[in-house]
Order: sequence, then C-alpha cells, then structure tokens
Amino acid sequence: MEGTDVFDLALGHGETEFFKGVKTRTMGINQSYLGPTVRLTAGNDVRLNVANNLSEDTTLHWHGFHLPAAMDGGPHQVIRPGTTWSPEFKVRQKAGTFWYHSHTMGRTGAQVWAGLAGMMIVDDEESAGLGLPSTYGVDDIPLVLQDRVFTEDLQMPYAPGFFAVMNYGLIGNVPLTNGTVGAFFDATTGLLRLRVLNGSNSTFYGLHFSDGRRFFQIASDGGLLERPFETNHVLLAPGERAEVLVDLSDGKTALLRAAPMHGRAAIKADEVLIRTLSGENDPFNFLEIRPSGNGDATRVPETMALLPEVRASDAVRTRAFELDMGLKHTINGVKMDMERVDEVVPEGQTEIWEITNKSWMAHPFHVHDTQFRILDRDGKAPHLREAGLKDTVVAYPKETVRILVRFDDYTDPALPYMYHCHMLEHEDHGMMGQFTVV
Ligand code: C2O
Ligand code: CU
Ligand code: CU
Repeated sequence: MEGTDVFDLALGHGETEFFKGVKTRTMGINQSYLGPTVRLTAGNDVRLNVANNLSEDTTLHWHGFHLPAAMDGGPHQVIRPGTTWSPEFKVRQKAGTFWYHSHTMGRTGAQVWAGLAGMMIVDDEESAGLGLPSTYGVDDIPLVLQDRVFTEDLQMPYAPGFFAVMNYGLIGNVPLTNGTVGAFFDATTGLLRLRVLNGSNSTFYGLHFSDGRRFFQIASDGGLLERPFETNHVLLAPGERAEVLVDLSDGKTALLRAAPMHGRAAIKADEVLIRTLSGENDPFNFLEIRPSGNGDATRVPETMALLPEVRASDAVRTRAFELDMGLKHTINGVKMDMERVDEVVPEGQTEIWEITNKSWMAHPFHVHDTQFRILDRDGKAPHLREAGLKDTVVAYPKETVRILVRFDDYTDPALPYMYHCHMLEHEDHGMMGQFTVV
C-alpha cells in the first residue's frame, strides 16, 4: 500500500549458538533468537505482518506505542500457529527507543525468555536536527540486555520455581547482550549513543561503566529528555529504556556492566553506584567498548525535546492502583482476568493514576497505549532522569507514585489495553489489569 512501511516478522523455533559448538533451543523472529530492529518514522503508517510459525499460540506487543487497542498485540490479539496477524497503525510516537515482545496470556515470561523480543526505533524531525549520533551500528547502537539461566547441557528451559514466581521472578546468572555472551564493540567514533533496553524477565540493572566514567543520559522510555543529564549510573527495571551518550575520546576501553538486583534489593537510582562499588553484587559485564582512539571531541546538545509542563491541576480525576503480593499477585486486590474490564477511561481526559506499592519489593508498573509523566513519588518531584516521557515506572516498596496519564485518539468499548507489573513472572501470575478507552 502507498505510504505504508511494511515489515514481515516470522516467529519460529530455532537453535542458537550462545556458547561455541553448542546449540541451545530458542525462539526468534526472522532469526533463531530475538528479532530485527524495526525502524519507524513518526507520522508514517506501518503494517507489520506477524507470522506465527511456532507450535503454540503467541502474540506480539508494541511496547510504548500509542495505537488502537486492536493493534496493540496484547493477550486478546492471539495469533494461532500457522496464521499471520497484520496490525496497521500510524506512528504517533516522538523519536525514541521502544520494543516488541510476546504478550501471550500466562506465557509472556516463557516466550520472552525463549527469545521473542526485539527493539523498535522511531525517528522524527525534532531529533534529526540535533546532531546526535545516529548512524545505526556505527555510533548509534541498540543494546537488548537480558540474563538467562543455562542448564549443564547449556539449554535454557523456562523453569521458574515456586519461590521465583512468588518472590523476585526468574533472575539469571549469564548476561546476554543482543543475544550474545561476552559482547564487545569496536568503536570508530569519539561519541557513542547507546540505546539500552532492559529486556530481562525480572532483573533490575544498575548500569554503569567499570571505570566509573561519567556519561549523559539523553532519553527515557518514550523519547528524548528536555536536556541531557550527566551521571555515572542508570537504573533500569524490566521493560524500561534509556539512551546514553558516552565520550570515548580518551581512547580507553569502556566496560558497560550492571549490578543485577532483584526487586527486593532494587533501591533508588542514586544509591545504586554506592552499592556496586561496595562490591555487594557480582556485576554482569554487558559490553566491552574498544575505541580506535581517533574519535573527535564530544558534542552534546544543550536542549533536546520540548515537553509540555506537568500540572496536576490538568487532571479531572484520580484512579488508585494498589500493588500487592502475598499468596497471589494482585492489583486492587484482584488477579488478572481476561473477562473482566477493570477500568473504563474516557478518551481525551487527563487523569492522575496513583500507584501504591503495598508489598516489600519494587515493581515496574507499565501502562499500554500511552506515554505518561511522573508527578511525584511520596510527594517528591521526580529526578531529572525520569522527568521525561515514561511508559513504565518503578514503584518502590511502600511507596506511592503519582503519574499524569491521558489516552487520546482511539476508543474501543470492547477491546481493552493492559496495565501490569513488567516483571514477567508477576505479570503471568496475576499482577495485571485491563482498561478500555471510550
Ligand atoms: Cu512490555 Cu504489557 O508490555
Ligand atoms: Cu506495553
Ligand atoms: Cu512485580
């Protein structure tokens, strides 16, 4: 069709050589593990032909995208084996780093673990004019960060025990970077842009460089921040993204690593580095960056995106969401039920969603169809790093986070969108709810 970008994505079983000479059974999209980066242009129409060549039901969700509920790829858009699902929508995002992944009811954890995920990048005019590194694979690098548990014969069956399900989720011990063990990158430029996705099932990553070097965070989940923010660490919960700019002009090798943390240990970002340097965790070495040493000096823009002011007074109502765990994982006291619509939200009205974490561990709360803004955490304004566009926000234990949300353009009284904890073992075991936009 004219004016429509078309992508063919085929989901299938495969074998992947994570370790030399050994084939691990996996799932992938157009390849044996993970899928290709889908690059989109804001304002264009896109059609994705998703063919299910697996022997089981699946779905494919476009995480972070504003689109009609029927195109969302959530639990209601089941793709049966041997069939193809072809959603079509307009790209209404700002430039940013997004992703796609299986969202099959009760099987999201298993299918993402096996490999059904990939990155999506959106470009727009505002970002193109900033002079940011943007040559894919040269100075603009996608990083899908995950961790897995391998058996003695180097298979990675999805087998979260009862304890993992009821507690931290499935936490691996082998870090994978774009599906690679021991990843490295030969950098040829002085300034490198990394698009980092925490694509793990349930692990929080306290990302930093082993030499403690400083870098700039330039984007959060839904796009560029208003201004680059200088730091030496970024905490990413499952589902969250950040873009960073790293200065390599000193020619020294830079090792990007993460302190892996489960949700109970996950603490506020500013404390992460202290814990890491104190040697509390064995770090996951995600990427060794080897500069050629002939890079130019750093040029980082001073201002980037223009974002609307965040005003609580714009909201016409407040909805409360209570996350809890005990013998079951619940939101507002109930487990996910595909037959029950939990919230009916009017289109085009700004609301405050008040997320209260009653449990003793952190949960990343994700909302479909929108990019929201964080109003406050226990009454305190958000840190710069999360003051931009977000679709996933961590609620720390016993904390209340208020977000400003709004659902525009699309209504569907029958088909719901999801909100849920993005720790996939929690999601699959009930910490999810549904809302329609009318
Ligand atoms: Cu990343 Cu409901 O999903
Ligand atoms: Cu999503
Ligand atoms: Cu959770």
